[in-house]
Amino acid sequence: MKKNILITGGSSGIGEGLARHFYNKGWAVMITGRNTERLSNLASEMPGLQAFEYDSLKEDQEAPLVQFIREHWKGKLDVLVNNAGHVALTPIKGISRKTLEEMYTTHLIAPSLLTAGCLEFLTLSKGQIINVSSSHGIKAFPEISAYGSAKAALNMLTKIWALELASLGIRVNAIAPGPTNTAVLANAGLPPEIIQAIHQSEKTTIPLQRRGEVEDIVANAALLIDSGSTWLTGVVLPVDGGISVS
Ligand SMILES: NC(=O)c1ccc[n+]([C@@H]2O[C@H](COP(=O)([O-])OP(=O)(O)OC[C@H]3O[C@@H](n4cnc5c(N)ncnc54)[C@H](OP(=O)(O)O)[C@@H]3O)[C@@H](O)[C@H]2O)c1
Repeated sequence: MKKNILITGGSSGIGEGLARHFYNKGWAVMITGRNTERLSNLASEMPGLQAFEYDSLKEDQEAPLVQFIREHWKGKLDVLVNNAGHVALTPIKGISRKTLEEMYTTHLIAPSLLTAGCLEFLTLSKGQIINVSSSHGIKAFPEISAYGSAKAALNMLTKIWALELASLGIRVNAIAPGPTNTAVLANAGLPPEIIQAIHQSEKTTIPLQRRGEVEDIVANAALLIDSGSTWLTGVVLPVDGGISVS
């Protein structure tokens, strides 16, 4: 059956992969991003795809999305994917208020506000929320405390919302990708040689000895979203080549 899905951060990487997957299944798909050129290219490539500019760091970003769902999708929303996010290396020595506020706003405050805004729709559909977390939210790595702690808190939000929304018939789960080939490290401003060094070291630290591809994450997120299961909630699913248990 055709469903309606909203994916934040759908303008690239994992979010774009999810958008393509569900668009190709015939679902109504809404994505968000900050890069307007990529958003409009994706909207041209996939006619009917709804692409919205959305910056987690700005006020009231959820309002136009909620209004669109109410007016144009007649209040139908089956799945909300809180995926928008970015990485920053943040050694505790010299950490700044600005970096911390950006990290916690993007990964915790913005998803909370958007989720709250979408509750009326998800209640009608008895829908689902999927939070895109990270293996950094499960396993501790040095010099990335802001991102790791934000994702750990997102895992806890997943469990708390699962309890809080269960009586409304809304299920809440998270997927926790390990290192996955997207533009996320380049977007963090890391120089190519550092990215190369990170990739090289991960070959030995990831038990399955390779980085993930977007398809690895999409396949498992799609299972969470569209398996027909109706009794799974409060789960944080690592999809990480085993890194979170190593
Ligand atoms: N790739 C990995 O290794 C990995 C591992 C674990 C978890 N994750 C998580 O997976 C999610 C997607 O990351 P990705 O790897 O697909 O990275 P990506 O290719 O850089 O995509 C990130 C998406 O989030 C959007 N975004 C970033 N910061 C935003 C902000 N402040 N406000 C609004 N939108 C914002 C980006 O929008 P624009 O580009 O249009 O600005 C883009 O659409 C993130 O939550 C990330 O933490 C990634």
